[in-house]
Amino acid sequence: MTAARRFSQRHRHLLGLAGLAAADLEAVLDHAAALHPFAEPAVRKLDRLRGRTVINLFFENSTRTRTSFEIAAKRLSADAINISAASSSTTKGETLIDTARNLVAMGPDAIVIRHAYAGAAEQIARHVDCAVINAGDGQHEHPTQALLDAYTIEQRLGDLDGAHVAIVGDLTHSRVFRSNAIMLRTLGARVTLVAPPTLMPSGIRPWAAADGLTLSDDLDAVLASGPDAVMMLRVQRERMSGGFFPTPREYTVGFGLTRDRLRALADANSDAVICHPGPMNRGLEISADAADAARSLVLDQVSAGVAVRMSVLYHLLAGEGVAA
Ligand code: NCD
Repeated sequence: MTAARRFSQRHRHLLGLAGLAAADLEAVLDHAAALHPFAEPAVRKLDRLRGRTVINLFFENSTRTRTSFEIAAKRLSADAINISAASSSTTKGETLIDTARNLVAMGPDAIVIRHAYAGAAEQIARHVDCAVINAGDGQHEHPTQALLDAYTIEQRLGDLDGAHVAIVGDLTHSRVFRSNAIMLRTLGARVTLVAPPTLMPSGIRPWAAADGLTLSDDLDAVLASGPDAVMMLRVQRERMSGGFFPTPREYTVGFGLTRDRLRALADANSDAVICHPGPMNRGLEISADAADAARSLVLDQVSAGVAVRMSVLYHLLAGEGVAA
């Protein structure tokens, strides 16, 4: 039995990474590597999802994730339909579940959903009979982002088992961090979470203790320890009410990947790489020097996103070994 079959027989949806086995995650990453050449427009499309329909239902803004799912579906010959919050009937008072049920009445094979409510994807999955993929639910999970982050780092550094990854920034408001911490620990990486105390999520300590996550509020000390990868997170001001730091300038001084810190990282580990899920706030959490450095994988992450989402769609909708 192929790894793909194993994944899709056990999982109809991709709602989050919590509870998924390393073998499941590796199956998706392995198939992403096999599909990666077909993510390029110059290469002939694969026809494995011909006749299938994928609906992208996005209630929050997105550049990368929505486009990436659309391209991924199209590279596999599926039809992709995009619905954004502004054009959906929820603005007329329809509930999320009614919207989903109505869409499912038109027979899609998958709904990809992004919503500000943590648990939105899971709630829809309970009410519909097609595959549901979570493209980010509130501050909960963003599973495909963590899959593509792990894929990108592994492509550059090799196996994540034993690698040291520092995740830095606005952890409180970040679904990317939550999925990444689960992903990286499941694959055997050492994870250090770095944030000012005000942006360290409440309740993190029991999770950190149970899952072996290290916590720090000293970015310079963590960089000096020579991590293999540094994942910078966006300061998510749209999710903030009140003051989490005195001024943007002070945030950068304490927690920005500045030019000086880029140099310190290179001194500590000359092979270290930098990631950011985007969109970046240049000059706030990441300097232009760091964003555009040769060790920055930011655009590799975006390219990998198509291959990884092809793999996820493939696993859930075709559910068999990859054949070109
Ligand atoms: C992230 C998100 O939406 O959670 N972006 C993304 O999907 N690439 C991170 C962010 O918005 O900061």
